[in-house]
Amino acid sequence: MLRVPVHAIQPGMVLARPIALPTKPDRPLLQRDCEIPMDLVPHLKRFGIREVWVRRRPFEFLEDLLDEGAIEHHRRVYLQVRRNFEAILRDSTLEIDVAGLEKAVGELLAFLRSSDGSLALFEQLDAFDNYLMAHSTNVCYLALVLAMNLQRRSIAERHVEQAQDLADLRLLGLGCLMHDMGKMLVSREIVHKPGKLDAREMAEMRRHTTYGYQMVRRHVPPQAAQVVLHHHQRWDGSGYPRLGDSRTGRELPPLAGSEIPIFCRIATVADVYDAATMRRCYSEAKLPVQVLCEMRHQCRGFFDPQIESVFYQTVPPFPIGQTVGLSDGVEAVVVDFHPSSPARPRVKRLRSPKGEALPPHAQEEIDLRDVPELEIAWVDGQDVRPYTACQQSSVPEPALA
Ligand SMILES: [Fe+2]
Ligand SMILES: [Fe+2]
Repeated sequence: MLRVPVHAIQPGMVLARPIALPTKPDRPLLQRDCEIPMDLVPHLKRFGIREVWVRRRPFEFLEDLLDEGAIEHHRRVYLQVRRNFEAILRDSTLEIDVAGLEKAVGELLAFLRSSDGSLALFEQLDAFDNYLMAHSTNVCYLALVLAMNLQRRSIAERHVEQAQDLADLRLLGLGCLMHDMGKMLVSREIVHKPGKLDAREMAEMRRHTTYGYQMVRRHVPPQAAQVVLHHHQRWDGSGYPRLGDSRTGRELPPLAGSEIPIFCRIATVADVYDAATMRRCYSEAKLPVQVLCEMRHQCRGFFDPQIESVFYQTVPPFPIGQTVGLSDGVEAVVVDFHPSSPARPRVKRLRSPKGEALPPHAQEEIDLRDVPELEIAWVDGQDVRPYTACQQSSVPEPALA
């Protein structure tokens, strides 16, 4: 079973997993074991589907890793978000079904706790139908997995206070689902503008944090509402909103470092990652490896270094099942992820440099940690070497002075 980008689908390919639209998770567009009709391919692109899983020997063993339960829960949370957001858009009165959202987050969390909670096979929902809803759901999922890994580390390192702050992750999930809700009050022309926003538009766009906070603060516990208000607040004191003192009207100094509530620090990392890996009205989707590299360089100082380091151990730059080109010209498939050495996963050789399928005895597995002269060079026709160089370890780059 392999991940195949939609543009690389070929006649005769058979699905290893159903293709479902987020809006209709119970009624897949195409069932497992179906041959993909070539005339459907342009429609898949239009729906925003980027890749499909197809059957391929000898990668059947990847099917055992794939947890359909995680995907199912992810979609269920999405449906709850959708129901709520649509109700708000329809009635323009705020009737958030907090109990429904909390229940969906609670079930997702319980599931993640019972599984290995890894993101190796994470399926990002795409934005074909509504960016805001898909993005909110993805951020919730990513933030929960990140927080669970952080929690494990806090307990292992006996950071009792931090472990206590992370106690009720349902509130983190709830805050993430609502984090960009305020964008529903920003004009559509600004939210969907394909070009760069001017200063006035940018100021209005940035108000989505305070608009959202006003929408939710009476309905959810403070830890969830804070995520909505502070998810653009950066560790180094940059970011927004800048709040005013209610007595004097003067602008307060920005929140920075550990003054920013921990759920907001987690949400901010998940938010930046998901926004950059999704297709937007003004940009194409980027590969995970590129986004992770940009986060290390362009976002220096933005994130809590401990959370950032756990994030790099959580999100694989090369997802399992992805076909990659090695620097010796061989085509291979990623079959495992090493959290401590994210850019050097375990791969299985598939095709020779001339593009010929390798015979079974030559399809050996290579742990790239053991072969320093070999690296992943290509993904989907893109040279990724500039991005892998900065990801040899899970430790973030030092912040700029
Ligand atoms: Fe936001
Ligand atoms: Fe966001």
